[in-house]
Amino acid sequence: MTKKLYIKTYGCQMNVYDSERMADILQPLGYELTSKPEEADLAILNTCHIREKAEQKMYSDLGRLKDHRKNQVADSSQKSPMIIAVGGCVAQAEGAEIKRQAPFVDMVFGPQTYHRLPEMIARATRAADTKKGKGRGIIETDFPLESKFDTLPQTNVSRTAAFLTVQEGCDKFCSYCVVPYTRGAEFSRPANEVLDEARHLVELGAKEITLLGQNVNAYHGAAPMGSGEWGLGRLAKELAEIDGLERIRYITSHPSDMTDELIEAHRDVPQLMPFLHLPIQAGSNRILTAMNRKHTRESYLEIMDRLRQVRPDIALASDFIVGFPGETDAEFKETLDIIERVRYAQAYSFKYSIRPGTPAGLMEDQIPESVKSERLQELQALINHHQQTFNEQTVGKTVRVLLERRGRLEGQLMGRSPYMQSVAVFAPERLLGQMVDVSIKEAHPNSIAGTILTTESTSAA
Ligand code: 5AD
Ligand code: SF4
Repeated sequence: MTKKLYIKTYGCQMNVYDSERMADILQPLGYELTSKPEEADLAILNTCHIREKAEQKMYSDLGRLKDHRKNQVADSSQKSPMIIAVGGCVAQAEGAEIKRQAPFVDMVFGPQTYHRLPEMIARATRAADTKKGKGRGIIETDFPLESKFDTLPQTNVSRTAAFLTVQEGCDKFCSYCVVPYTRGAEFSRPANEVLDEARHLVELGAKEITLLGQNVNAYHGAAPMGSGEWGLGRLAKELAEIDGLERIRYITSHPSDMTDELIEAHRDVPQLMPFLHLPIQAGSNRILTAMNRKHTRESYLEIMDRLRQVRPDIALASDFIVGFPGETDAEFKETLDIIERVRYAQAYSFKYSIRPGTPAGLMEDQIPESVKSERLQELQALINHHQQTFNEQTVGKTVRVLLERRGRLEGQLMGRSPYMQSVAVFAPERLLGQMVDVSIKEAHPNSIAGTILTTESTSAA
């Protein structure tokens, strides 16, 4: 009998990958994905702890799930009421706190234990007090000795653009960040395992693979046949040998791990897309030191220069935090100065958010919310301007687009340019999953649009 599985994913792409894998593990148990929480037999919130907002959102979503379960209990024609589970980084960091604030939650499990889901569900199902709507008290937030990657089944879902986790965890300990505590120590999967998973994804229909890791360019996986280790540049080169894999991307990187080999791969590996997301966070060296970033504005700008030398058309992206403790107006202006110099094609920016257990959370000189908001607005206005300019530069040009999904409008398909821009075209459904040439006609701040020139399948027809 099929059961309904509802998963809500918060936060980064790593969580998106983890949610996909959870669905893969649960499929043999008869779980089928649904987008309607009210009909779920099992509802999982795959949470993010990086900023306070994401955490608050999780608690309000939990309240809604509790109401859905109440309705299921009230409806006597219903099967047994849903199991409510919290996974991901909030679960890892605050397992006991979740039990206290939301005692009706049945299962709490961290990012390193989700391969044990079938066993946890069996335990939850056996627990007796379901109908009273009480939680079943299962918490799995250890860092187990066995790796989840050894026990996860292979996916059988075809995705044109697929994610592949190659590295997890982080040893950098930036002073504002919870990741080293929630995701644990840095760990790289052996290269063979990555190559096998990539081949499998390509066989299922993937044309693009994005390599994922909290610190993906710190990748140092065991090389095949015990011959040392491979860095990410070498891994990209080897992946490029897979027939049918047309595009390789990776996210997210740290400036200190931008090796020569990886920079050169941007010149030598045509499948490696001309796009790099390399967070700087702030433009002032004093703030970077306080953030424990281990790079300076100068070393960062030098990397950007070298990337542009080897790959002149590379599009660059970054993350920024405004209002880190003690940040002065002048220091904030140094961040704006970096943005002016690099002229990013894309960027994510955030107000500094105190995270429990991190050194920056204890620093004096916390910046008032109103100042953070003003700085964020100013920074985002500048970034939007550059982003729009970057997008306008593609108008009149032809870009290669991998059509990945339907758009919001009838008959519209969406894909990505090599530079990671969202591209909208009107095209028949059968072109989904195809690589097409698009003549760009319009630029918007967050996307570009155009018409299809040729496609492999139409020209063959
Ligand atoms: N406050 C605000 N932003 C943060 N980030 C990480 N920790 C915090 C925090 N405490 C941002 C960084 C990181 C991105 C994923 O989230 O910019 O690169
Ligand atoms: Fe967090 Fe810094 Fe590690 Fe990135 S490098 S995950 S910001 S500690």
